[in-house]
Amino acid sequence: MPEKNDQHKHTTDNVVAELSRSESYAAYLGSPEPSFKHTTYFPAYDALLSKFRGKPITFVEIGVLNGGSLFMWRNFFGPAARIIGVDLNPGAKQWEQHGFEIYIGSQQDPVFWQEFCESVGQVNVVLDDGGHTYLQQIITAECLLDNIVDGGMLIIEDTHTSYMPDFGNNSINFLKYVFQWVHKINSRFGEFKPTQEDRRVFSLEIFESIVAFKVDRPKSNIVSEPTWNKPPNDGDEAQDFRKADKESLARNKTLIDQILSDAFSIHKAPNRDPS
Ligand SMILES: C[S@@+](CC[C@H](N)C(=O)[O-])C[C@H]1O[C@@H](n2cnc3c(N)ncnc32)[C@H](O)[C@@H]1O
Repeated sequence: MPEKNDQHKHTTDNVVAELSRSESYAAYLGSPEPSFKHTTYFPAYDALLSKFRGKPITFVEIGVLNGGSLFMWRNFFGPAARIIGVDLNPGAKQWEQHGFEIYIGSQQDPVFWQEFCESVGQVNVVLDDGGHTYLQQIITAECLLDNIVDGGMLIIEDTHTSYMPDFGNNSINFLKYVFQWVHKINSRFGEFKPTQEDRRVFSLEIFESIVAFKVDRPKSNIVSEPTWNKPPNDGDEAQDFRKADKESLARNKTLIDQILSDAFSIHKAPNRDPS
């Protein structure tokens, strides 16, 4: 059993090795100003945002603080990207002298977002690293999704606040809103009537403390209906065995109960020892 300090060192070494492969982490370390992020966010940034590198995109970050992440994103996306910062703190305006566009306003103010969208036009990516209350996250999503182009995305950070007190009324926590999107997306299935009409978001991607809403209206508008690549010839159809297994559930009851218990446990490693 390693000493506590050794354990910590081991974890840190792993983190350093993993982050040394991260393009966004390199951009973060290269920023000349302070930025405050969590280590687990960099692999998520790489997975979500690498496709935009070197492109003339419009990128919006809510939450400027000390300005460091504005430079990080410029490092990451390259000089062709238009980088816009949003913050409630008027002091953030100082970063305009470095070529960033800065808008001062509150992310929980729908009128601010209306004016912002009129002024800025359509954008590719919005990253919310602002105040992290449920209302701020939900109002930001509802006010900005329409303004994101197909192929773009809205990324909400610090979604762990949904498990914490002091970030709003828990009955409307942000992850409940995300799950509402799971229902919205699945309600497009052709046999469900009526299907709902909100077809902005094609998919959701979930990371630790981060949720990405991938915007793609054409893909979201594909009508859900059954299809064959080529129908089987008459008399050639394979028999569908989907309800044929009547015994294995009863035969393996103990093992399956264990699997279900593991499947619905959060703070527990799986125990799959069949003995
Ligand atoms: C976590 S910090 C941003 C960190 C920064 N992105 C970085 O990487 O260092 C949060 C920022 O959100 C801003 N903020 C808090 N509430 C806000 C609101 N309602 N509207 C806009 N900005 C807000 C704060 O002023 C603060 O600068």
